[in-house]
Amino acid sequence: MFKNHSDNIDFGSYKYYIRDSFLDLSKIMSSMNIKGIKICIVSDSNVSKLYTDEVKKVLNESFDLYDFSFEAGESYKNLSTVQSLYGFLIENHFNRDDILIALGGGVVGDLCGFCASTYLRGIRYIQMPTSLLASVDSSIGGKTGVDFEGYKNMVGAFYEPLFVYVNTIVLKTLPEGEFKSGLGEVLKYAFILDKDFFEYLNENLINIYNHKPKTINTIIYNCAIFKKMIVEEDPKEKGIRVFLNFGHTIGHAIEKLSNFTKKHGECVAIGSFFAIDISREMGYLNENEAKRMQQLIMDYGFDIDIPDSISTDDIIKAISSDKKQGKDGLRFIILDNIGHAKIISNMDKKYIIRGIENGKETNKRTDTQI
Ligand SMILES: NC(=O)c1ccc[n+]([C@@H]2O[C@H](COP(=O)([O-])OP(=O)(O)OC[C@H]3O[C@@H](n4cnc5c(N)ncnc54)[C@H](O)[C@@H]3O)[C@@H](O)[C@H]2O)c1
Repeated sequence: MFKNHSDNIDFGSYKYYIRDSFLDLSKIMSSMNIKGIKICIVSDSNVSKLYTDEVKKVLNESFDLYDFSFEAGESYKNLSTVQSLYGFLIENHFNRDDILIALGGGVVGDLCGFCASTYLRGIRYIQMPTSLLASVDSSIGGKTGVDFEGYKNMVGAFYEPLFVYVNTIVLKTLPEGEFKSGLGEVLKYAFILDKDFFEYLNENLINIYNHKPKTINTIIYNCAIFKKMIVEEDPKEKGIRVFLNFGHTIGHAIEKLSNFTKKHGECVAIGSFFAIDISREMGYLNENEAKRMQQLIMDYGFDIDIPDSISTDDIIKAISSDKKQGKDGLRFIILDNIGHAKIISNMDKKYIIRGIENGKETNKRTDTQI
């Protein structure tokens, strides 16, 4: 499945473009016969400063342009920011023909997509992910939403963009910690779906950290293809799409318990580390495979240490209040091979407790490469 190159991807109802500038944007819009309308570029305070003017420059001949920016950070992915954006759109007479552009990381993409899905019962929007995580994950698959009273993504909608446009050059200004956070999701794809991709990530650690364009484009392309495969088979998360939650059950708990001071992808990497131990503990994964995957997480520089203030008991309590608990009890994604995931219903929490405890021990014994 893994391909050592990158290309555009056709998602059926929308396309995913990988470019190294913003220049093609207006060409794509005119090829879709989109012109003469209002466009609002929605961004956060960091990305807006860097790129809103550049995008405006590319579009300014054909469109009536507006921009809306909100304070960067997960804590602003809420209904209050949504309300401000609705207000801005109403004030500027945006109607159903007009378009929003989500220019930013996953926070901007989720929030802007949710506004687009509800404003006037739905207007068009374009995803322009600027973080690695948004490029490989959140901009794909049409999941939009905001957090609500401490609960992640509690309010939202499935709503597909007009297209996704990734300009990989912008990753050069992405803070290193955010880049690493995106790599947490990249590793996840390798663990659940593709052993060849796992080997590629093993071999290309240095190229990835040196931002070698061909390598970056290759990982973005392959992750997007993996996500395409999954969301096409299961658009509304009724079946295999839950594989994408690998590492997220424990990851979300840690993210919440650390008051969102730890980055999402970093928590996914920590959650993956423990989920690998749980898979081994339950007898699905052999020692060697578990070790290789955990070593890769360490090699990519993830700090698996959970702060002392977060106990195993806290994690279990946070998992128990997770909205993903269904009528078949806790669903947990485990691995039975490198590149192969499995859903466990009615997961017995004793394995999670044991996995977390073992994972903490394994972490103490494992060396990192970088
Ligand atoms: N919808 C989905 O399917 C889905 C999937 C995974 C994650 N998510 C969501 O995505 C969010 C996390 O996304 P994220 O990691 O991109 O976080 P983010 O949007 O907060 O971006 C991370 C930080 O990087 C900055 N930034 C982004 N691009 C930049 C660039 N090119 N140059 C300089 N700074 C830049 C942002 O301003 C922010 O400070 C979470 O809210 C998570 O719930 C959604």
